[in-house]
Amino acid sequence: MIVEKFIPLTFENTVENGEIEWASPSNIALVKYWGKKENQIPENQSISFTLNECKTITKLSYILKDNKTDDFDFQVYLDGERKLDFEPKIKTFFNRIYNYVPFLKNYKFKIETKNTFPHSSGIASSASGMSALALCLMSIEKQLNPKISKSFFNKKASFLARLGSGSASRSIEGDLVVWGKHNDIEGSSDLYGIKYPYKVHENFKNFQDTILLVDKGEKQVSSTVGHNLMYGHPYAKQRFDQANSNISVIKNILESGDLEAFIALVESEALTLHAMMMTSMPYFILMKPNTLEIINKIWGFRKETKLNICFTLDAGANVHILYPENEKEQILEFIKTQLVAYCQNGHYICDSVGLGAKKM
Ligand code: PMV
Repeated sequence: MIVEKFIPLTFENTVENGEIEWASPSNIALVKYWGKKENQIPENQSISFTLNECKTITKLSYILKDNKTDDFDFQVYLDGERKLDFEPKIKTFFNRIYNYVPFLKNYKFKIETKNTFPHSSGIASSASGMSALALCLMSIEKQLNPKISKSFFNKKASFLARLGSGSASRSIEGDLVVWGKHNDIEGSSDLYGIKYPYKVHENFKNFQDTILLVDKGEKQVSSTVGHNLMYGHPYAKQRFDQANSNISVIKNILESGDLEAFIALVESEALTLHAMMMTSMPYFILMKPNTLEIINKIWGFRKETKLNICFTLDAGANVHILYPENEKEQILEFIKTQLVAYCQNGHYICDSVGLGAKKM
């Protein structure tokens, strides 16, 4: 699909005002996206689990302006409080998507948002936040053009969300989502994420993710800066090739249910992401001592019990612990007794794989 398909040529209806609310989830990548080209096109394909509990809920209220001005008119509220510092990021997002959402300058918007996870948890809210807002805008487009199909709605929502934050393209629809054109994944695209279209083994149904909050501070290095450091990175090409081949590998794993191979791939991906950070120029380390303590404890516990527990990491110090639902009891007990001590203020979040965004 070419980008022009996302530019609406006419609108059938006029809509004066209204409000719309969406709850959109965060996601955790198994094969990681790190590095992008112009216009938020990924350098490599990625695949993620959609989370069930970590969500952003956004209500968008809109009133048609008397006169269309050449400016965006909006205010952002987080938990009921005006957030002026969020507004430049939303303005950048609106500028990027304006071509595809030409009614943006016709309305005055109020964006009211809240997260089901604590804002200062170190959990990236850009994926859930940008996708929730993109879905709200698509709901307005649907009122203006009621004939758009569900499939177009979801594709364009993901397309718009991507222009806000790359990983947000993977937060619209489906428990497993692929973003980035790949020969082995039919329908995949660099422009939007798609619901993983193949058979998934029972072992991965309702997979569990316990997020250990090791460091709740602001990210030391933004992902935008991180992605840019892949330009001229000495291992960039090898990394992008590896991610491409890991998509083919994970496709077989997801079908066969091979948990041992899943663990090896997921942990290698997490450490490779951080290795890219450590080998860029300038270099940086986002893991903390407790991140490593937790990883070593997980390895020890896995060796001892043969349970299928593994970890993955985002661009931060927090650890996502992934495991099958049928091992939940023993693994949660291990987390509570052995790992919580390494979390900031003992905080962790129990989550599982969910199905995507929901209209409220
Ligand atoms: O969506 P961004 O630009 O914040 O990038 C996120 C990148 C990682 O979270 C580190 C990996 C991923 O694929 O989600």
